[in-house]
Amino acid sequence: MWWFVPASEEGVTDEPEVVVDDPQSREILGLAWGGVAHFAEMLADEGELRGLIGPRELPRLWSRHVLNSAAVAQFLPEEGSLADVGTGAGLPGVVLALMRPELEVHLVEPMERRLAWLGEVVQELDLENVQLHHCRAEELHGRLRVSAVTARAVAALDKLARITLPLVAPGGTLLAQKGQRAADEVSRADRVLRRLGASDVRIHEVDLLGDGDVTRVVEVRTSS
Ligand SMILES: C[S@@+](CC[C@H](N)C(=O)[O-])C[C@H]1O[C@@H](n2cnc3c(N)ncnc32)[C@H](O)[C@@H]1O
Repeated sequence: MWWFVPASEEGVTDEPEVVVDDPQSREILGLAWGGVAHFAEMLADEGELRGLIGPRELPRLWSRHVLNSAAVAQFLPEEGSLADVGTGAGLPGVVLALMRPELEVHLVEPMERRLAWLGEVVQELDLENVQLHHCRAEELHGRLRVSAVTARAVAALDKLARITLPLVAPGGTLLAQKGQRAADEVSRADRVLRRLGASDVRIHEVDLLGDGDVTRVVEVRTSS
């Protein structure tokens, strides 16, 4: 059972928001809209039961989690490979794999039941560009090198850098979705970022829906 809220009924329904079919979501997701809506439907059906999302997250699943995952898409490379470290239920990795089918996407997650869920998602959505890795990111050091790494709600930036930068190919990018304390995290991680080969660090403020709810994307580029 899931809830679909057509744009015309927004604001006049008490039903929880699961998929919002409005021009903004269509524009952000483009051709991936249908697949992403299907993914949101799966998460709404089973996410709470399987411990993937908290019950309080259901009413804001679409905007706060699914659509929010698209905030990093504009910083991804044109081609190459992507690893979403600590992808959990598939955020942002599944959304990005749907939006950018030309990228080779690696979803990295150590928790077995989350991996089982991701396997079902990959099969259901026919995601041919996705590979699953049932391990911690550190276990892939020296075995996997990608053009970009994404991470959302995984660890503070200094720890995240240690976990993820060894996976980033020279000239590649780490894209970390962060909250309001992004600038503090960047200053605290300064030394470790330099030591691990970061050449440029920027904080992008993305107001995806134009409603003032800003997502901060820390972009760390590594030397070529
Ligand atoms: C708070 S959840 C966030 C999940 C998802 N990225 C999201 O935004 O909803 C953090 C996830 O990171 C995973 N994780 C923690 N440490 C990790 C590591 N060293 N390597 C890979 N994944 C890790 C956890 O198992 C968990 O699924």
